[in-house]
Amino acid sequence: MVLMRDMNRPVIQALDEFKKRQPISFHVPGHKNGLLSTLPEEIRSALSYDVTELSGLDDLHEPAGMLQDAEQRLSDLYQSDRSFFLVNGSTVGNLAMMFAVCSPGDTVIVQRNAHKSIFHAIELTGARPVFITPDWDEETQTIGTVHALQIKKAIEAAPDAKAVVLTYPTYYGVAGNEMGAVIEQCHERRIPVLVDEAHGAHLIVGRSFPPSALSLGADLVVHSAHKTLPAMTMASFLHVRSSLINPQKVAHYLNMLQSSSPSYLLMASLDDARSYAESYSAEDYDMFWQERSAFIQSLRTLSFVEVIEPDDSLKLLMRVEGFTGFALLEKLEAEGIFVELADPFQVLLILPLLKKGAHFPFEESLGKIKTAVTLLKAEAVPDATTPSAIIAGEEIGMLAVSPADLTGMKTEWISIDSAIGRVAAGSIIPYPPGIPLLLGGEQINERHVEWLTQYMRMNAKFQGAIQTEQRKILVTIE
Ligand SMILES: Cc1ncc(COP(=O)(O)O)c(C=O)c1O
Repeated sequence: MVLMRDMNRPVIQALDEFKKRQPISFHVPGHKNGLLSTLPEEIRSALSYDVTELSGLDDLHEPAGMLQDAEQRLSDLYQSDRSFFLVNGSTVGNLAMMFAVCSPGDTVIVQRNAHKSIFHAIELTGARPVFITPDWDEETQTIGTVHALQIKKAIEAAPDAKAVVLTYPTYYGVAGNEMGAVIEQCHERRIPVLVDEAHGAHLIVGRSFPPSALSLGADLVVHSAHKTLPAMTMASFLHVRSSLINPQKVAHYLNMLQSSSPSYLLMASLDDARSYAESYSAEDYDMFWQERSAFIQSLRTLSFVEVIEPDDSLKLLMRVEGFTGFALLEKLEAEGIFVELADPFQVLLILPLLKKGAHFPFEESLGKIKTAVTLLKAEAVPDATTPSAIIAGEEIGMLAVSPADLTGMKTEWISIDSAIGRVAAGSIIPYPPGIPLLLGGEQINERHVEWLTQYMRMNAKFQGAIQTEQRKILVTIE
């Protein structure tokens, strides 16, 4: 019997029907429907769904059956011209959208506080970036979003730009209120707008969330379904809604960049996440809002705790005066509370997009958070210096050396303290959030050094061209 719920999830329905046939596997994957797997039973039991492009199970790269149906439902929900399932995160979406709009040597305007996958896309496509560094957002103590005047300046500096690449909302949930005006200005010049909306797959479900970039007219939009919808890690979406970009071109690059054996577990999870968002009702939203408000109210009664609500109500920032986010995170983890990330100012929480009837342990969390904060105040040494707001880039800026020219240049490790004026040979990325503090090819200034020093002193985790213990970074030799 097919459940009503499954009829709305074609991938899950097809997989269930296939499983009922008790298939004997003489095909890949080698675990043979889980038979040979030695994984713990909880994981192994899912492997009977981990199949491949068998008869009736369609092909993600040439969808004509249940995957076409599932992607069409996704497209209907987000009101796109075409939507794609991604099995390698927003990372592959960002790569594909950049390949779809630019060739080597083309100029693209890029928001500087972007995820590393955007910078990797720049390097791989051979594009020449002109960066916009948004203003510091005082409320969240982070770099915010691009505003209309900045885009005007950037287009004047790069009138031949092939695309504008924005991040919206930011990792910290900052959306601003100029996205519509920004997109309009780009479209007046027929410049397509690509939006990394990795953190915004849920924006369409409720009234208090910022408007989605697609609804504001963006041409290509990427969603990490796994970040804010109940999808498995890596499960993501890419949407096209554009008179400037042909969806076929996007499909062409996804075909090259995604695995030829996409995971059916991930695709089932994407189908489920779409269905979750589609069926999200006003009652669900009201219940989410009530639970969220009660949680915030209770947090605010805790001594020393400051709570900040960014534009995206699924995000929350928590601070304890005198302590870094890193110190707070350590104490929270010791109590079993795992947050999204820490920075010099605060920790970032991603709230659950609850539906009616779901239970989330807010009450239990409050007790643990209270203990963590009490122990932090009692045991930890307060940070003597107040972290400073640092914007390292020019409002409109360029790399000193392009990624293409960087390849093949001689490099050396030098002390961070003598690096001012030199050119970084590779990016330095605090992770999470994965937004580079310094980009390969960028000329190092005092603010970069100040920012790096601040992060290192606070024991932040880095990826890239840095040796934290030796205080050294990799620079080019001219
Ligand atoms: C803004 C932003 N874009 C893209 C990505 C990459 O997404 P994924 O992990 O789905 O590949 C991330 C990941 O953290 C992100 O924060």
